[in-house]
Amino acid sequence: MLSRGLLPFLTFLPTSLALTHGQETPQKFSCGEINVLFTGLPPYHPLVKAQGADPAQVDAALRADAANIRKQGYNLRVILLGPEKNITTLTSYLGIPETADGTPRPWDGTGVGFGVRGSAMAQLTVWFEEVVTAFRTGAPRAPIMFDFSPGTAGWAVERHFPIEEDCEAAGREGGDLRLADWA
Ligand SMILES: *[C@@H]1O[C@H](CO)[C@@H](O)[C@H](O)[C@H]1NC(C)=O
Repeated sequence: MLSRGLLPFLTFLPTSLALTHGQETPQKFSCGEINVLFTGLPPYHPLVKAQGADPAQVDAALRADAANIRKQGYNLRVILLGPEKNITTLTSYLGIPETADGTPRPWDGTGVGFGVRGSAMAQLTVWFEEVVTAFRTGAPRAPIMFDFSPGTAGWAVERHFPIEEDCEAAGREGGDLRLADWA
């Protein structure tokens, strides 16, 4: 009896959730509009190997992912650093970036890679907390985006900031805001 009573409510749920978000059609963004910053471990960092990952494979996945994000039309900066660094180093990169035409535009999204978020190591969990706090204080309006492997940051960015146009085909790829430290 109870389950029959619940059914109409459950059927109704998706519609009511959509209304709550106030977005019946998701907002679309344009090529070169969105500024994103991702941080993670440098691929050859000892804590990458300590988690059983192959540094060369992680390096290749990160590079391909970064190239793909720009092809998708996003302006990207990647900051790779490990927990031996002071978190203020990351904070120092959170200043307002400029788009290709020199217009200042605060970070639209920030992200932290799977080597930090997915690790089962105490040291990296503490670092993950510090990174999240740095993003919350340094770029408070930007959603913090998560991927699920070293090569899926593009998936995370696309989820948050869908662009309908094929920016690569249109010759309108994202700009290189990258200050990578591939050490
Ligand atoms: C990190 O840097 C800040 C500012 O430069 C300093 O106040 C703080 O003591 C440093 N923390 C560590 C653990 O070195």
